[in-house]
Amino acid sequence: MYKYLKIYHSPDLKGSVKISGAKNAALPLIASTILSKKEVTLSNVPNVADVNTLLKLLKNLGANYQFTNNQLTIETSTINKTTAIYEIVKTMRASILVLGPLLSRFNKCEVSLPGGCAIGARPVDLHLKALSLMGAEIKIEGGYIKAKGKLKGTDIVFDKITVTGTENIVMAAALAKGKTRIINAAKEPEVVQLCESLKESGIDIQGIGTNEITIYGTDGELIELKNTEIIPDRIEAGTYLAAGAITNSKLTVTNAEPNHLESVLLKFKQMGFKIEIKDKNITIHPANKINSIDILTSEYPGFPTDLQAQFMAIATQANGVSVIEERLFENRFMHVAELNRLGANITIQGKIAYIKGPTPLYGADVMATDLRASSALVLAGLIAKNQTNVHRIYHLFRGYENLIEKFTNIGAKMELLYEPNP
Ligand code: EPZ
Repeated sequence: MYKYLKIYHSPDLKGSVKISGAKNAALPLIASTILSKKEVTLSNVPNVADVNTLLKLLKNLGANYQFTNNQLTIETSTINKTTAIYEIVKTMRASILVLGPLLSRFNKCEVSLPGGCAIGARPVDLHLKALSLMGAEIKIEGGYIKAKGKLKGTDIVFDKITVTGTENIVMAAALAKGKTRIINAAKEPEVVQLCESLKESGIDIQGIGTNEITIYGTDGELIELKNTEIIPDRIEAGTYLAAGAITNSKLTVTNAEPNHLESVLLKFKQMGFKIEIKDKNITIHPANKINSIDILTSEYPGFPTDLQAQFMAIATQANGVSVIEERLFENRFMHVAELNRLGANITIQGKIAYIKGPTPLYGADVMATDLRASSALVLAGLIAKNQTNVHRIYHLFRGYENLIEKFTNIGAKMELLYEPNP
């Protein structure tokens, strides 16, 4: 039975939201436990659908884990299977993150090709090309990536910056023989945390946080992965600050990492909001007048594509025409038609969206299409008159922990209901 989220007009928010651990840091770190000879404990792990999907996949391979109160203890020495099955991989494309570790530990594995998703084809060709350069024999058969071979370090240049591609090769290189250099590597904070965790566990890694990472592999020797606390989720933090912005309310996010949000905080300021930082807490204050904004999404430390939809929702309330160019994904404007259903005035030309504001929004039925587009519809629903029903809400629970509770605690009114039988 499908559920949908009914959002009541909630124009005044107040108080604070505690930010959870970053989903996109937890996923590669969970995959990296495949490289460990001993049990590992990860703390501040968000209890979201994507994390539970990856844990289900590792359990299917033979690993054992306990996951309670955001603390995950996982033992992978019991892994006795190297096939990541379609039934699980199809529900979350980040499952591709087991490819590198499985191959470098077992010298063979089969991983179902991840499907595309609403935001684009999202191929994994760069992952596969890099692993082939490291000596893997890779073929695609029956929808599966079938890989085998003992990995050897080499120089790899990524044609495009890829977050999970970089993470996969870092993990593959950790157990490979010799030195691997990754040129044009991703430098997202989530990539940095994975590299730091491997370094603390004895892997010699240079260039962490730069676009050139060098890894000296153990030649098949498993590592003793150190226990790690997951970094705060910068996208979740940006999403709740965006809730403060769109309702023009004073709102604080706690347990955040302001240093991971510099490009985003600057955009809030350019839109006229005052931003106050106190240690790990960020407070957004109302703007006298919300200015229109120009945004071009790019790899870290540029403006994150994962906050593009949320800023588009804010832009519907800005004075003037905002221009947002999506440069990373070919189809990440699925939320535009839905925002327009609420009364927004957004036009698209190729990869550029033009948002005229301010436009009053009126509640309607809308459809979530991907994780971040869904959160943009929730934000719009807060200020839309009457009620907004966001359907296919499961997208939202893939990456936002305790979302309804967190929003309710700051004054938003929303409830999760079952779709009526047609
Ligand atoms: C990661 O996805 C994130 N997911 C995404 O967050 C995020 O939007 C994206 O990075 C960009 O920041 C996780 O970390 C689990 P990419 P990823 O490889 O690694 C192309 C969310 O909402 N490409 O950096 O899959 C690709 O098509 C999710 O939490 C190739 O062409 O993204 C895209 O256009 C959504 N070939 C661009 O590169 C490849 O082999 C960047 O993709 C790999 C990527």
